[in-house]
Amino acid sequence: MTETLDAPPLAGATHITDYDEISEILRSPDFVQGGFAEGTAEMIPGALITLNGRAHVERRRLFARMFTQDRVDHYIEHGILPETRSALAELRAAGTDETDLVPLSWRILHRVPAMVVGIDVDPDAEVRGRFVRYIREIAKAVTVDWQRGDHGALLAAGKAAKTRFAEEFFAPSLAARRDLVERHRRGEIAAEELPIDVVTVLLLHGDVPDEVMLHEAVGFLMASITTTAQAFPHFVVQLEDWLARHPQRRSVVQDIGFLQRAVDESLRLFVAAPARIRTATKDLVLKCSGRRIAQGQKLALWFGPANASPDFGADTEHFDPEREVRARPDWGLAFGAGAHLCIGRPIVTGVRGRGADPAPHGTMASLAKALYAAGLELVADAPATKDAGTFYDEYASLPVRFTDL
Ligand code: HEM
Repeated sequence: MTETLDAPPLAGATHITDYDEISEILRSPDFVQGGFAEGTAEMIPGALITLNGRAHVERRRLFARMFTQDRVDHYIEHGILPETRSALAELRAAGTDETDLVPLSWRILHRVPAMVVGIDVDPDAEVRGRFVRYIREIAKAVTVDWQRGDHGALLAAGKAAKTRFAEEFFAPSLAARRDLVERHRRGEIAAEELPIDVVTVLLLHGDVPDEVMLHEAVGFLMASITTTAQAFPHFVVQLEDWLARHPQRRSVVQDIGFLQRAVDESLRLFVAAPARIRTATKDLVLKCSGRRIAQGQKLALWFGPANASPDFGADTEHFDPEREVRARPDWGLAFGAGAHLCIGRPIVTGVRGRGADPAPHGTMASLAKALYAAGLELVADAPATKDAGTFYDEYASLPVRFTDL
């Protein structure tokens, strides 16, 4: 936490690290989004994450259909598994068993968000590479407040990437879906034949301007790819460290229930953004603690220390995939809480209840199982590096090898 304290969004903020206080603030209608101010205003005005109150609730309700268990199963079967197979086939064709897990994660994980949003991305490597590059540049601009580089340059690069994304990917995908929706309105195709994605849902809704749809698409893509692609290398490092201490348990890498539990535990410890920012809209007193908060007061909510509270058992600073968590979600506050709770959580954690068959699981556990089936391991003599250009805890590089390609 200390190394991030000079990040611009934290200027003048009151720091909150208590789990119950953070939960109450996130669930209260008396606070509004205060984070990503510069980047969201410039890059994605009008997108879900920037909305508050009634406008937020109404927009969010439209998207529920994308996050059912059936859809999660569909994203795994038609997104994660084929992309993993083709990424591994590319390695085989290149005659190597070593690669970098950071670009590999982006390369595989781009597909599910594209499906959720309704953006058609040709599997051609160059097209896919451009899509991933645009989203990375857009994400740096949206989160510019948390980047260490030249903010003007990052915003300019993000805006240029958004323009290219809009022309090359968004416009044709929107046109194809608009055509389907019009055919549906003329009675030529049934509702069941329409795609289930953000763009189609917004078109069916009818009164959303194209520019807002573009911002919603961009907001969803970056919120989903960056978080998952950052979280996945952290998960692998933590699991590998645990497996090194429990070598007799190595077979768990093919147990999807165990892997999901390990993903949940790694998300408790990995935090997507250094702190979430909220601003109070009126004077109030927190019920759980009696803390007084003034109208306009900016709060920095630190999920990391909150997720390490004793509520999660003993030794909470450490990764323990066999940890029994009772009174809290296994992943703590990793997905936030309240009105802006991550809408994509079911994609990462699965939707089924405990004890279901197959065990509840989402994209990260499925990807892990598929990569471990090809013999994933860290390259011992090639150290991982972190991205020094950001306040996020983000791997820049994580060398891995596949022993059974
Ligand atoms: C490991 C993966 C992920 C993590 C850790 C994560 C974390 C979060 C957090 C903490 C928030 C709340 C932000 C706030 O309150 O300020 C959030 C919101 C959001 N997430 Fe995720 N997320 C993940 C994956 C996804 C995926 C897969 C999608 C979509 C397919 C997604 C879409 C969104 C959207 C659209 C919001 C804004 C929701 C709203 O404002 O109502 N996220 N996410």
